Amino acid sequence: MTILAIGGTGTVGSEVVRGLVRRGRPVRVLSRSAAKASALPPEVEGAVGDLGDPASLTGPFRDIDAVFLVTALDPEETRNGLAAVTAARAAKVSRLVYMSVHNLEQAQHIPHFASKIPIERAIRESGIPYALVQPNNFYQVDYWFAEVITRYGVYPQPIGGRGIDRVDVRDIADAVVNALDQVGTASAVWPLVGPEALTGEAVAQVYSRLLDRPVRYGGDDLDAWATQARAMMPEWMVHDLVIMYRHFQTEGLMATSEDRARCREIVGHDPRQFEAFAAELTSSAPRAS
Ligand SMILES: NC(=O)c1ccc[n+]([C@@H]2O[C@H](COP(=O)([O-])OP(=O)(O)OC[C@H]3O[C@@H](n4cnc5c(N)ncnc54)[C@H](OP(=O)(O)O)[C@@H]3O)[C@@H](O)[C@H]2O)c1
Repeated sequence: MTILAIGGTGTVGSEVVRGLVRRGRPVRVLSRSAAKASALPPEVEGAVGDLGDPASLTGPFRDIDAVFLVTALDPEETRNGLAAVTAARAAKVSRLVYMSVHNLEQAQHIPHFASKIPIERAIRESGIPYALVQPNNFYQVDYWFAEVITRYGVYPQPIGGRGIDRVDVRDIADAVVNALDQVGTASAVWPLVGPEALTGEAVAQVYSRLLDRPVRYGGDDLDAWATQARAMMPEWMVHDLVIMYRHFQTEGLMATSEDRARCREIVGHDPRQFEAFAAELTSSAPRAS
């Protein structure tokens, strides 16, 4: 009954692993790093392997019953995801849950949305009972620039003014854990969204209120954003994210009422509010003196 968590050391995967441990499920986490694999909690088994090196996956997939798959942002994301599906088929796993992205079919010009489409297709055609979970932008992205918000009073994620239905990573994890239990009866696709559409201005107002000082939205200038981002990420990723943010600004990434109902069904409770998440961030991050 062991579940292999690919991406289990990452933002969503580590929450999923915590949820599986709470439910008493045996978990093995794949990591490219022997140091990370040996630093996992004692209830969790670590395994070293790299999706870019399919031969390294034989050991990690041995005696695995189910797989949770995250494919990291990578120019080789499709190749990596397809390698995971091939390994899962060879291991004859009984269930596979893949974390894709919300509304990817409508935004195929975004490179890291497009790269997931062949992976989803391979999973649908694999014969393995599956669930595809499709989250919107994570609330937890804001931890990347928590200090910019709390110390400098700027909300820098250029998400625009149309609205995106951001979601808490802990709700995604709850959905994945539930989906891992349910798959096997029927395959399904689950949009994962928060309770409201958020704009850049609305997010900045929430932080202003919680910090009791002005926090302004950094604005929609993607050239300026790219110039800052180049100090922290490679050019291919800057290019990819500029295309994504332009889409957010022009189209939004919004949930339908059906998306919200489906999401509630698999998460198993009401989605966490953005304001509650933001209160946690502001209470833990350094503030302007
Ligand atoms: N950020 C958002 O708002 C958002 C919204 C919707 C969907 N998504 C999607 O979420 C995914 C990223 O999830 P995340 O933020 O939880 O991930 P993350 O924190 O970036 O972590 C990436 C994980 O993937 C593993 N990994 C990377 N390359 C690997 C390889 N070649 N072989 C094996 N494992 C590898 C890493 O493990 P080691 O480093 O331990 O090897 C790590 O556990 C992306 O597909 C993204 O498109 C993100």
